[in-house]
Amino acid sequence: MNGTMSEEGKGPRHVILAYSGGLDTSVAIPWIKEKYGAEVTTLTVDVGQEGELGDALERARANGARDSVFVDLKEAFAEEFLFPGLKANALYQGVYPLSTSLARPLIVRALVETARRLGADAVAHGCTGKGNDQVRFDVGVKTLAPELRIIAPVREWDMNRTDEMAFARERGLHIHQKPESPYSVDENLWGRSVEGGILEDPAAPPPEEVFDWTGHPDTWPAGPEEVTVGFQEGVPETLDGHMLSPVELIRTLNRRAGRHGIGRIDHVEDRVVGIKSRETYECPAATVLIQAHQALESLVLPRDLLSFKAGVDRRFAELVYEGFWYSPLRSALEAFEDSTQATVSGEVTLRFFQGTSKVVSRKSPYSLLSRELVTYDRGSTFPQRAAEGFIHLYGLANRTAYARRKEAHPLGEEGEIPAPGPVLPPP
Ligand code: ARG
Repeated sequence: MNGTMSEEGKGPRHVILAYSGGLDTSVAIPWIKEKYGAEVTTLTVDVGQEGELGDALERARANGARDSVFVDLKEAFAEEFLFPGLKANALYQGVYPLSTSLARPLIVRALVETARRLGADAVAHGCTGKGNDQVRFDVGVKTLAPELRIIAPVREWDMNRTDEMAFARERGLHIHQKPESPYSVDENLWGRSVEGGILEDPAAPPPEEVFDWTGHPDTWPAGPEEVTVGFQEGVPETLDGHMLSPVELIRTLNRRAGRHGIGRIDHVEDRVVGIKSRETYECPAATVLIQAHQALESLVLPRDLLSFKAGVDRRFAELVYEGFWYSPLRSALEAFEDSTQATVSGEVTLRFFQGTSKVVSRKSPYSLLSRELVTYDRGSTFPQRAAEGFIHLYGLANRTAYARRKEAHPLGEEGEIPAPGPVLPPP
């Protein structure tokens, strides 16, 4: 059907491997060459990971890659993935800002583009068979480029960390040896995720050593710090009145909120492969930007839109998490989200202090909050007398239903019918 099957017997000739520079993807280079007899070109994508990518290019070649490609896609990541997520206040299960999940479709796109440009016939990634990332990579590649074969060495080989180290030693691979860290870390502009070791026990509080972007209570600044975020149609553009590039803005907030210990997330998460896992994240900028964005929306969007949008936001987050970035539904929801943002412009001030961020001020030229309507002082234009007639009709349907049910069950012995409270005179 799709070319992949018919070529299965032949094996791939040239594989583009998504390369982070870590142990798994370094071991994957010789493993693919030996197992498939294929050439390997590595692709390293800069999505704003703070850990150094420095010598990843040389190391890929030293470890046997035919060539190594590096692309800086930080701006595209922010503009095409993070900001659509922000407009949707995207939080999986209400807490996780989808930092890893949002990066995957961008890396998929880069893999596919690189494979096409170099005439490769396969792509590879270092995801395990237990996680969401394999789903996002495979679904994405099969959608954008059904002709490409997908190789997932870590899912195929039967090696643990010790086996991999031995494999690497036998072949003299150049590995960046992090001294025995039991943790698996994934980083980009939108956050940092840490898994493994003691964190696998949901009863164990995360040890301080797993955190890198957020300060320990002992190092929190003594006093509060305020920062004002300026939004234009749902997109953050300024901090304290200064225009910043999307990447600079996000990085600055990671630092400023992170210092106060903001953005730590400890979550028992439901993966798409059907398992629950304890996940630990540090997402300072994402946390405070979503908070500020929501605060602005609450000022400028009408009640029914806010309520409906919350449902769309949740679905959008689920689609991103589940690996369906490239889907008609996700695109349609993005169009909906965009259409809600025309008036989401203005400024929100957050106060960071002792591990928390609070909204203390919000303003917008499109504010729906009218002082003349809401004030209890002089000058109110709200027609309070009209409230009486409004309330009479507003409660009519349920008043009638309540009366009929009392007639049907006069003693109210049915548990579902609440005992009548004190009866008020009709208006
Ligand atoms: N559980 C998160 C997600 O599925 C984070 C995954 C981290 N990925 C990794 N390769 N370390 O989005």
